[in-house]
Amino acid sequence: MPLLTVNKLNTHFKTMDGEVSAVNDISFTMEKGETLGIVGESGSGKSQLVLSIMGLLATNGWAEGSACFQGQELIGLPTKEINKIRGNRMAMIFQDPMTCLNGYLTIARQMTEVLILHKGMSMADARQRSIEMLEAVHIPDARNRISRYPHEFSGGMRQRVMIAMSLLCEPDLLIADEPTTALDVTVQAQIIDVMNELRSDMNMSIIMITHDLGVIAGISDNVLVMYAGRICEYAPVDDIFRNPQHPYTRGLLHSVPRLDGDTSRALHAIPGNPPNMQHLPTGCAFYERCEFRLEICLSQQPALKHIDDLRQKACHLEAL
Ligand SMILES: Nc1ncnc2c1ncn2[C@@H]1O[C@H](COP(=O)(O)OP(=O)(O)OP(=O)(O)O)[C@@H](O)[C@H]1O
Ligand code: SF4
Ligand SMILES: [Mg+2]
Repeated sequence: MPLLTVNKLNTHFKTMDGEVSAVNDISFTMEKGETLGIVGESGSGKSQLVLSIMGLLATNGWAEGSACFQGQELIGLPTKEINKIRGNRMAMIFQDPMTCLNGYLTIARQMTEVLILHKGMSMADARQRSIEMLEAVHIPDARNRISRYPHEFSGGMRQRVMIAMSLLCEPDLLIADEPTTALDVTVQAQIIDVMNELRSDMNMSIIMITHDLGVIAGISDNVLVMYAGRICEYAPVDDIFRNPQHPYTRGLLHSVPRLDGDTSRALHAIPGNPPNMQHLPTGCAFYERCEFRLEICLSQQPALKHIDDLRQKACHLEAL
């Protein structure tokens, strides 16, 4: 049984100006131990896709379709049920660690509480386990540092603390939404190393969302490229880099080499802008920006199809 099977997932939001279709017809499968990279421009639906799976959508949003995790359907699961899975078999970390850490409580208090509540551990055992987790993410002098407050840690250290916290319950799936975006390149690389270590030590599966194709290359087995809430290409990481088959993926790769390490603007190097998610075009959403566009692309949405055993793309072009 796959770890996670997402089938025809759609997520909408009700807004004052009408309905926004943030996630459109997404299907993919993840095996246990696999790391899936999700990449795409700002607003392409990456976060809403995983928030839909985690049952964490804003109140004006709703998800339809299926997300089956270890054989259990998550979409439409009552909060009480999904709470049992979240933070336990499935954990999520965010760009800003302070969305998860409480600035007024010591790290020790925040970490031990999780273990005492969820695992019924004694205070002494919970503290020992928390220190071990901090050591696993390479926090120096963890035994003493655990008594400090979040603001006493640097940005990179805080991100590690958050990773350590999310791992306390030994989740089978860790979802990381741009966990390294706010960090400088060296610290980013260290965090990726830590995640790779944890992944092999704990046989954990990871979904890594990022703007940064360098991060994707460093950690992913497979990559899902999103545009306007849809999958445009899905392939093993080497294929994405060596032989991208979708014009958008190719555009992303061409915009990568920035030796100054500033990747924040890289994805905007493709001329033009993504479509308005409130009024998605009938045809291919990338049409306006695509240098390979055909007449059919304007009127017909390209379906996501296998181009070989492992790869899929949604494009009317046979080959690039
Ligand atoms: N609560 C909401 N109400 C209305 N629209 C929303 C809401 N939350 C997200 N959206 C819209 O959903 C779309 C997808 O957003 P999402 O946050 O998934 O993008 P993203 O790919 O994660 O972008 P980024 O890289 O900037 O984080 C966007 O157009 C966004 O404006
Ligand atoms: S379907 Fe057409 S417009 Fe869309 S990416 Fe392919 S060639 Fe370009
Ligand atoms: Mg996001």
